[in-house]
Amino acid sequence: MRLDKFFSVTATASRKETAKAVRGGLVTVNGVIAKRADQQIDPEKDAIALAGRPICYKPYRYVLLNKPDGYVSATEDGRDPTVLELLPPLYTDLGLFPCGRLDKHTLGLMLLTNNGEVAHRLLSPRRHVAKQYAFRVKFPLNAEDCERFRDGVVLEDGYETKPADITLAEDLKSGTVTLIEGKYHQIKRMMEALHNQITYLERTTFGPLTLPADLPRGAWRELTLEEEQAILQAAEV
Ligand code: URA
Repeated sequence: MRLDKFFSVTATASRKETAKAVRGGLVTVNGVIAKRADQQIDPEKDAIALAGRPICYKPYRYVLLNKPDGYVSATEDGRDPTVLELLPPLYTDLGLFPCGRLDKHTLGLMLLTNNGEVAHRLLSPRRHVAKQYAFRVKFPLNAEDCERFRDGVVLEDGYETKPADITLAEDLKSGTVTLIEGKYHQIKRMMEALHNQITYLERTTFGPLTLPADLPRGAWRELTLEEEQAILQAAEV
């Protein structure tokens, strides 16, 4: 692999930035200053550093993002901004895509990855990976509504949802719902089946991941090593 390609796939520097760093003598390959940005390197074996900082090769990347209102869970959209647009340009070359969808007006935890197998496994209905949402609805909910959530709700198209855990706050108009599946507009449609209406929805957990309290809306970070190991375990890879 070319050195400048390595810097691009590790989201370290663009081709232009790499050329500049090489010219400035800032890039080393196995401790030797690189002379050319198109030098061939072995990403698995060679030790590459930029300004003395080792750059580690990770073919798969996992990004946790706090989705803001109005963004769509897609890699491209002709009309609305996509969650991919919240990442810096260097990350757009990594082939990341959203692992599952949140509606345009749903907020909170999104996982983006370029590991198709892990995404597929985390979303597979067989694995029942749980997702928790904080919600608000228009009208107060009662014990019977909660029972229906826990038993499974029949949606307008006849589909009966799997049991969903629900907790209610004192105001009876907010709380948390935990799903183990991910049907289109699922929570909205479950509430509609109870003649209610979602006014706020935020995903707070996805499998072993929790939305970090210090990650502002619209911000993102890569998973920590522990988080990455936890999702690989949840995906059973
Ligand atoms: N349920 C919904 O209705 N919308 C989401 O974005 C996620 C779950």
